[in-house]
Amino acid sequence: MRKNIVAGNWKMNTTVPEGVKLAQEVNEAVAAQAALKCDVIVGVPFTHLTAVKAVLTHVALAAENCADHKSGAYTGEVSAPMVASTGAQYVILGHSERRGYYAETIAMLKDKVDLALAEGLKVIFCCGESLDERKQNIHFGVIKDEIEGSLFHLSAEQMANVVIAYEPIWAIGTGETATAEQAQEIHAFIRGLLAEKYGEQVADDTTILYGGSCKPSNAAELFAKPDIDGGLIGGASLKAADFMGIVTAF
Ligand code: PGA
Repeated sequence: MRKNIVAGNWKMNTTVPEGVKLAQEVNEAVAAQAALKCDVIVGVPFTHLTAVKAVLTHVALAAENCADHKSGAYTGEVSAPMVASTGAQYVILGHSERRGYYAETIAMLKDKVDLALAEGLKVIFCCGESLDERKQNIHFGVIKDEIEGSLFHLSAEQMANVVIAYEPIWAIGTGETATAEQAQEIHAFIRGLLAEKYGEQVADDTTILYGGSCKPSNAAELFAKPDIDGGLIGGASLKAADFMGIVTAF
């Protein structure tokens, strides 16, 4: 059975002390929940990983990116082995902000996925279409290309360490959420791609998250859909109370 997951993506927010405080608040709130129906992850800036890891007991830790090389002369980059050495269990890869602002390509992300998995990190792989692509009705093809191009060289065993996050770019940070029906349609499509490539079992076992203006007020409706297994949460992960409102939406 696949896991339900709610993962925070803090993006470029909080100083280290602010981040440690937020992580403590989330960890305490999660620890106080008797029977949570999901795993909880916080995705934090590289600078925060070690300090945040030290205060987490009931919440897993993710980096928001890693380099497309293992080591060497890449000033300013942070490698998958470095991320793994902090005790982080996950890395978010392919976020649309990375693809858009930092020109990350499908081929580059394939390398990042391989490097992360080789270090024992689990990957939260983001995909999703722009508003323009949806208007042109090419969104299914865009998502297929992103998933096929960066993930479908993996074995079925490796896919067990990949979580997919569907994040329509037009819904990220805009306050505009995909409707639960729109999200379910894409999630079912993604699960269908997995079934075609890897068979029903892998498709069934893969956690597929929704991201894009997910908040306490809409999380329950989204998570009630059969193929939506949780959320990747940006803005609403920066306040422990809002984030917990989503964590407890299952
Ligand atoms: P948002 O961001 O929740 O602020 O829309 C989601 C994401 O980008 O992961």
